[in-house]
Amino acid sequence: MVTEQQSELSEAQIAVHWREEEYDFPPAGFVAQANAADPEIRTRFAEERFPECFTEYADLLSWDARWQTTLDTSNPPFWKWFVGGRLNASYNCVDRHLATDRNKAALVWVPEPEADGTVAVTYQELYRRVNEFAALLRDFGRLRAGDRVTFHLPMVPDLPVSMLACARLGVIHSQVFGGFSGGACGERIADSGSRVLVTMDGYYRNGELVDHKVKADEAVARAAELGQPVDTVLVWRRHRGQYASRAPMVTGRDVFVDEVLRDYRDAVVEPVSMPAEAPLFLMYTSGTTAQPKGCQHSTGGYLAYVTGTSKYYQDIHPNDTYWCMADIGWITGHSYIVYGPLSLGTTSVLYEGVPTYPDPGRPWRIAERLGVTIFHTAPTAIRMLRKLGPDEPRQHDHHFKHMTTVGEPIEPEVWRWYRDVVGKGEAVVVDTWWQTENGGFLGATLPALEPMKPGSCGPGVLGVYPVIYDEHGDVVPAGSGKAGNICIRNPWPGIFETIWGQPERFVQIYYEKYCRNPDSTDWRDWPYFAGDGAVQAADGYFRILGRVDDVINVAGHRLGTKELESASLTVEEVAEAAAVPVIDEVRGRAVEMYVSLKPGVTASEGIERKVAQAIDTHIGKIARPMHVWIVPDMPKTRSGKIMRRVIAAISNFGDVGDTTTLSNPEIVDSIRHHVQAEKLARGQTPRQLTPQEADEIRKFGNAE
Ligand code: WT7
Repeated sequence: MVTEQQSELSEAQIAVHWREEEYDFPPAGFVAQANAADPEIRTRFAEERFPECFTEYADLLSWDARWQTTLDTSNPPFWKWFVGGRLNASYNCVDRHLATDRNKAALVWVPEPEADGTVAVTYQELYRRVNEFAALLRDFGRLRAGDRVTFHLPMVPDLPVSMLACARLGVIHSQVFGGFSGGACGERIADSGSRVLVTMDGYYRNGELVDHKVKADEAVARAAELGQPVDTVLVWRRHRGQYASRAPMVTGRDVFVDEVLRDYRDAVVEPVSMPAEAPLFLMYTSGTTAQPKGCQHSTGGYLAYVTGTSKYYQDIHPNDTYWCMADIGWITGHSYIVYGPLSLGTTSVLYEGVPTYPDPGRPWRIAERLGVTIFHTAPTAIRMLRKLGPDEPRQHDHHFKHMTTVGEPIEPEVWRWYRDVVGKGEAVVVDTWWQTENGGFLGATLPALEPMKPGSCGPGVLGVYPVIYDEHGDVVPAGSGKAGNICIRNPWPGIFETIWGQPERFVQIYYEKYCRNPDSTDWRDWPYFAGDGAVQAADGYFRILGRVDDVINVAGHRLGTKELESASLTVEEVAEAAAVPVIDEVRGRAVEMYVSLKPGVTASEGIERKVAQAIDTHIGKIARPMHVWIVPDMPKTRSGKIMRRVIAAISNFGDVGDTTTLSNPEIVDSIRHHVQAEKLARGQTPRQLTPQEADEIRKFGNAE
């Protein structure tokens, strides 16, 4: 149904005005060594070769049994890749490299305290650790193929070890970002039906040894409330033999992994041969409802896809030293720190802490010391490092051949600093657009073959065919200057299989909008709806504008407005809550909460603090709002819906637009006065919004 607001403000009707940027070409040194240097590769992945083109990715893996059907479309849109094939992901990421590379570092771990020195884990050592932990999970944890296990782990080698140990058994891991609260972890435990939680006592962040085990107790309590008992909590210790948490160990439930592991010394666990379509892991992400979605990723399709894209887009060679600064708690870390790089047998760097600790020179010291050749990070980190240490990279003798950016749109100016100062003009820059749901890249330039354009992710990647549709399902042509909803016309091996336990939502959210015929088993009738607004330039390059649903991208992390709002509503005094994005120089977007109170309750700073605290408890500190504004009432439509775009405009000092359809238009001026006066008093002087930012704010909240 097209609502009044949508027809008034749909993406497709917004003409987007930005300056087309000039192309930039990869350095010759890069091209000479690139994995994808022959333009013929585009022909191999041409649309008429679909889906068989993807056998090229699958052939990068070692299979126990070869597949019979490359793509099974018999139950759309539940696509099945490489059906009949069997393999083990742990075998592919570990065992198969032993013959040639057993003493090469698989992982190099950099603890946050700089004096601690780095730790290299060779493929042989990784093999040992994965086998021992797999034996522990199987025999002590009583876990079998198909069971789910939740991890709440920081950036330590024990995390990839735990993932690969699960993969060895066919156990489905579900890693929850370490920065999320115990409550958020508990909800994911319950949703996935995990009876085992793997956590750690503490870890270093910003110079502090954070107590992490306390969150495990909150998580188990929350899961129990939701009906899911946890009988075993496996606690890794940051310093073996020393316990860093003040939370007591619960007898009969909690054990120290390093102690139990003694019983499994040198154990060897045969990798379980799994069907290609068996789930490998769940990764939760935010959407339009308060409940996070467990994206279920497959074994064969996913691993083939991340291996292929790591080879051609990350340009990983076995002798590279590759550093992706993301957290493994996000999909980027799963695909492009662990599974893709290790499947290719390269050395993958893991950094425990924050990039600016103890100073913004830290990443460049790490890169120089370790001889990093490929560097991968998000625009928010680039902006932060540029702001705090604009000349720092010049002080260091690091040399990258390739640099990736991921997770949010990057401003051309920031892109140029990345290329010129961080990359010293020696590296190719690849802007990669994709999502938790997708397993791997969707839009990016082939680094040796397609020129870069600052601010654009480039064309669809090999074998992926994006299109922009307007609200009616008509194609918005390239070069029209109009934005619309970016969709992918075809399935690809990295696409998630379903939302864990909610197949109807999977169909409804991602496929219903543009499905041409629900009875059809032809994939052409089932475009994938990505939930992003985008524009396609005449040369076919896409520029991603941001989410069209109620999701706010803060520092590259997706936060659902509904999650923020329902957390705020747990505060007794709060009657209504609305979350809106504010433009933030470093984090891209930040969150501001608007709340109205129950009758008879007086506004106070105490209530503001309680709302911020509730968000910390239910989601985590990353979601903490910049401001909590208590308002006498929300601006509402006549049907009672909160007009988020109006408060979003106020928070951003933008144009509130037409308010005549509101049932209470008089409220707008009073909120504006209160909010903007306070911001000015705190020195938060607004800057002029760019036309794209103004468009984003103007359409915010349309999805309702
Ligand atoms: C959303 C997905 C990609 C894995 C990490 C984030 C935005 C992602 C880009 C990019 C512009 C981007 C989109 C997307 N996004 N990459 N290169 N340029 N926007 O995964 O948390 O699932 O977020 O991030 O809006 O839908 P995620």
